Amino acid sequence: MVSFTFSAVAAVSALLPIAFAQTHTNCNPLNTTGCPNMPALGGNASFHFNTTWSDKLWKSTNNGQIAQKDEGAIFTINQSGDSPTIASSFYLLFGRVSVIMKAAPGTGIISSAILQSEDLDEIDWEFLGSNKTSILTNYFGKGNTTSYDRGKDFVIDNVQEKFHNYTIDWTKERIQWWFDDRMLRELKYEEALGGKNYPQTPMNIRLGIWSGGDVKNNDPGVVAWAGGKTDFKQGPFSMTVRDIYAEDYTTAKEYSWEGMDASGSWQKVKVLNGTSEALTEARKPHGVQNRWNALSKGAQIGIIAGILGFVAICAILITVCCIKQRRAGRREHAALLAQENKEAAELLAYKNQMASGRFGYGNSNRV
Ligand SMILES: *[C@@H]1O[C@H](CO)[C@@H](O)[C@H](O)[C@H]1NC(C)=O
Ligand SMILES: *[C@@H]1O[C@H](CO)[C@@H](O)[C@H](O)[C@H]1NC(C)=O
Ligand SMILES: *[C@@H]1O[C@H](CO)[C@@H](O)[C@H](O)[C@H]1NC(C)=O
Ligand SMILES: *[C@@H]1O[C@H](CO)[C@@H](O)[C@H](O)[C@H]1NC(C)=O
Ligand SMILES: *[C@@H]1O[C@H](CO)[C@@H](O)[C@H](O)[C@H]1NC(C)=O
Ligand SMILES: *[C@@H]1O[C@H](CO)[C@@H](O)[C@H](O)[C@H]1NC(C)=O
Ligand SMILES: *[C@@H]1O[C@H](CO)[C@@H](O)[C@H](O)[C@H]1NC(C)=O
Ligand SMILES: *[C@@H]1O[C@H](CO)[C@@H](O)[C@H](O)[C@H]1NC(C)=O
Repeated sequence: MVSFTFSAVAAVSALLPIAFAQTHTNCNPLNTTGCPNMPALGGNASFHFNTTWSDKLWKSTNNGQIAQKDEGAIFTINQSGDSPTIASSFYLLFGRVSVIMKAAPGTGIISSAILQSEDLDEIDWEFLGSNKTSILTNYFGKGNTTSYDRGKDFVIDNVQEKFHNYTIDWTKERIQWWFDDRMLRELKYEEALGGKNYPQTPMNIRLGIWSGGDVKNNDPGVVAWAGGKTDFKQGPFSMTVRDIYAEDYTTAKEYSWEGMDASGSWQKVKVLNGTSEALTEARKPHGVQNRWNALSKGAQIGIIAGILGFVAICAILITVCCIKQRRAGRREHAALLAQENKEAAELLAYKNQMASGRFGYGNSNRV
């Protein structure tokens, strides 16, 4: 079932200056020259957050906890001000991203999985913690937030207790939002203000959780939009990201803004072909921890048993060796004593013999 109830919150939202995503850009290429090139993904990569991830590929903001567990990466809000996020260091220019995740519960808590570019094009999935069967899809072109008719929400399955596959399939012609194997929404290029508001510049992947219902840090409008005031005593609130499957539709090594103008058009983005560092990095295991985690439980148990076995064998060997040595020592000591006793006895006998003059030269004065 599909519903379009976003207009109810649109009135409140219209008061707000900016979108509710975790939007940020260091260098906006539409009005700044010399914005740095962006590393591309340039191919397919999968990321499993049940094992440690590369901090070269995923940059995190450390305000709040992101824990690595068997279930995946767990983003937690425990107190006012927490908003843990990660963003990919690599970008895609048209592509497909599937995020396998569970959204966070909690009034006012917003989970999000978005694609965003440096000139603030954006494609969103957002989840309100107050409603476990609702999901919001949204998009922005060049940071234009003047109109709030772009968001659409859908009533779907339980998004907080079950993992689901949220896919954005993005080409220059259209954007599709897929919930598991069902397409919820399609936006055509021309439907986005004749393409002007259509997301079309290299985007990275940003995942995070924040508290729109934190009355300390937000306007009443945001709190209302977020579904109400967050009661942190009900927390902690966590969202879990298990896997991400990303496909860049180009074979780029980097994207460049050189020659970009105010149009923000995809035709003005320079695609520099080559083997991307992100792909190389994504395909190698990350650290000992990662290789360790990549092993099955059985293999891990096997290795631990092996190490313990080795230690035990060493201990036994050392013990046996010591006992042997001590025994040998005792034997040697006894032999030595016996030898000494024997020599002492011989010496005594010799002295006695000499004293008794048995050999004839004992009392030489008597000669
Ligand atoms: C560029 O545009 C953005 C968004 O309109 C604005 O926030 C920023 O201040 C501008 N930067 C410059 C250098 O003009
Ligand atoms: C990426 O994966 C898709 C299927 O998910 C496949 O069709 C495509 O050929 C792959 N591309 C590359 C460059 O491996
Ligand atoms: C969670 O927040 C409470 C205070 O609100 C604090 O006492 C506690 O240590 C925090 N726990 C973690 C894991 O940060
Ligand atoms: C959840 O959201 C949907 C649509 O956005 C709405 O129809 C439903 O009433 C909401 N449920 C609750 C419990 O707020
Ligand atoms: C922003 O988008 C609205 C409609 O969504 C449009 O009316 C307006 O002209 C756009 N602004 C710019 C600067 O393109
Ligand atoms: C996620 O959903 C998309 C769209 O239905 C599908 O193509 C893709 O294979 C799914 N991925 C996984 C890992 O289930
Ligand atoms: C980059 O590679 C793609 C696919 O191999 C090709 O279509 C495109 O023309 C190349 N672009 C440049 C600038 O070489
Ligand atoms: C992590 O998840 C992937 C994909 O779901 C799976 O293939 C792999 O075995 C898992 N690794 C561990 C250590 O659980």
